[in-house]
Amino acid sequence: MSNSSTNTEFNPLISLNWRGSYLELLDQRLLPESIVMLDLYTPEEIWDSIHSMKVRGAPAIGIAAAFGVVLGAAQYQKEDRAGWLEKVKEVCDYLATSRPTAVNLFWALDRMYGAAVQLSEDSNQLSISALNEGLAQEAIAIRAEDEEVCRQIGEHALPLFEDGMGVLTHCNAGGLATAKYGTATAPMYLAKEQGIHLKIFADETRPVLQGARLTAFELQQAGINVTLITDNMAGMVMSKGWIQAVIVGTDRVAANGDVANKIGTYSVAVLAKAHGIPFYVACPMSTIDLNTPTGAHIPIEERAPEEVTEGFGKRTAPQGIKVFNPAFDVTPNDYVTAIITEKGIVRAPFDQNLKALYSESIS
Ligand code: MRU
Repeated sequence: MSNSSTNTEFNPLISLNWRGSYLELLDQRLLPESIVMLDLYTPEEIWDSIHSMKVRGAPAIGIAAAFGVVLGAAQYQKEDRAGWLEKVKEVCDYLATSRPTAVNLFWALDRMYGAAVQLSEDSNQLSISALNEGLAQEAIAIRAEDEEVCRQIGEHALPLFEDGMGVLTHCNAGGLATAKYGTATAPMYLAKEQGIHLKIFADETRPVLQGARLTAFELQQAGINVTLITDNMAGMVMSKGWIQAVIVGTDRVAANGDVANKIGTYSVAVLAKAHGIPFYVACPMSTIDLNTPTGAHIPIEERAPEEVTEGFGKRTAPQGIKVFNPAFDVTPNDYVTAIITEKGIVRAPFDQNLKALYSESIS
């Protein structure tokens, strides 16, 4: 099915839907040309969808993995609680190998395993199928909470933006990367709801083009004023005075406030600082990883050279050329103006303030 309409209401494409016995997943690799929903029944299909980026974006990866655990646990046939829990652990460990950088993946898997432990301890009378239902409820809750959290991020972020501002974003931290609303895009959708007019510039985001294929697509569908630029135009549009704020998502925030996000984010942050433009990072608390001390400790995924040399089936580099293709980079905390979460806005000193926000959110 191809889609060429423009929504007048906020009625976005939803990237993941749980259908009771399978996960319906939007194949994001095919956007914007085709809207194809895949029905996934096994943890292997979920693993492949995360690894091959049919589903991508930190929160969406976590949600998909949570349902992968549900699908894996449902394969266990015996009425043996210890065996069931072992199976859940095995599926979690397997799904954890699908991609390395977004901490939401590991956060969601830890939460699912924790729920499985609790279910198996708390409900001695229950059958394995009831435990499986409990696990499904946990994944459904993760998805529902993400939607709510993204909206709250938008509410906290919105006062940072004024009518008429130019706002640059990189990659896709949009509704497609989450349950709904996105993180970096949440204030854009809320601004639209409230009649605040923002002029969004979306970086194309080489080499997988999440900015062009996904961000430009979803904002255009929502009727938001969006202009697509290639990555190497960001400095030029800033120098023209067209950008008053940058807002991006993140795959992992280290304890000191260093931020890993899509490759090219660091360059945008440096450009923003050079032009005196605030650089905001929007993310759920589940993206903040206090166990990772600094950005240098964040594992950075390297992807296949073909993404650079023959992206989308067209060879654009000589055969045999050496390629370096990291999928993410780290923006040091001193380039970050503020981190916007569902619990509020955090500014420097990030090491102290992130820890304080975390303790508040669990107390
Ligand atoms: O490789 P991707 O497309 O999964 O990278 C996604 C990003 O870098 C996003 O900005 C990040 O995950 C935040 S999504 C709300």
